[in-house]
Amino acid sequence: MPAHDSTQSRVPLSDPTYRYGKARNPYSAKLAEFPQIAFSDHGTEEFAGHWRNKFETARPHGELHVEIGCNTGHVTRAWAENNPEKLYIGIDWKFKIIYRGAEKVAAKGLKNLLFFRANVERLKFMFGPGEIDVLHLYFPDPWPKKAQWKNRFLKESTLRDAAVVVKSGGLFHIKTDHAGYYSWMQEEIAKTGDVWTVEKETLDLHAGNPEPLKLEIPAVTLFEKLFIKDGIPIKAVWLRRK
Ligand SMILES: C[S@@+](CC[C@H](N)C(=O)[O-])C[C@H]1O[C@@H](n2cnc3c(N)ncnc32)[C@H](O)[C@@H]1O
Repeated sequence: MPAHDSTQSRVPLSDPTYRYGKARNPYSAKLAEFPQIAFSDHGTEEFAGHWRNKFETARPHGELHVEIGCNTGHVTRAWAENNPEKLYIGIDWKFKIIYRGAEKVAAKGLKNLLFFRANVERLKFMFGPGEIDVLHLYFPDPWPKKAQWKNRFLKESTLRDAAVVVKSGGLFHIKTDHAGYYSWMQEEIAKTGDVWTVEKETLDLHAGNPEPLKLEIPAVTLFEKLFIKDGIPIKAVWLRRK
């Protein structure tokens, strides 16, 4: 169990009765400094279906974007600044980076961005049916060894969970650097043709760009910048909810 995860319960994460354990991370208590911005553990499930009401923006009915594994929130923050009419939620399970992200959102006075400190395997409990317009998953941990594949986030069950919380006609955008994980994703996606349509996909997202190193956040993520520097082609797929 990773140190930054507070999960200690024996009940599986996929079970509605699962409870997060008491977090020992010092940033867990500090998150309470930002009650309007940062939600943690079961707090991320309390307003499922009603998150738009929790934004302090004057326009709480905008398109809702959710980024899974947002890390420092660098991409969601840039989106929120550039698109004040849209709403954003960044999810990551690391306490400290969510705390730092919330500090920056508070300092900038952004009203259209919330952070969730939670295990994203609980996605289906965090949102109501069709609540999300666009879901983003950028560079999920690839878990390269065969014995680790069971830890991969993108699989048939999570694609089906995502299909519940993304509205009909909504989008799920995924990027990875890892060829093995991408092949795995393609197989898992193929099992969910009843709920998702592959609208577009590419094995080299930046192929047509002569200077991909000059791309800036949020067009690229922090991890993506490193992969581009190493000359690794970025695999990407856009799924449309049926
Ligand atoms: C490889 S990083 C990618 C970060 C960012 N999307 C980027 O492209 O720069 C993966 C991120 O997912 C987060 N993460 C991994 N497993 C998670 C889980 N089960 N629940 C929530 N966040 C998770 C990690 O903490 C990390 O920030």
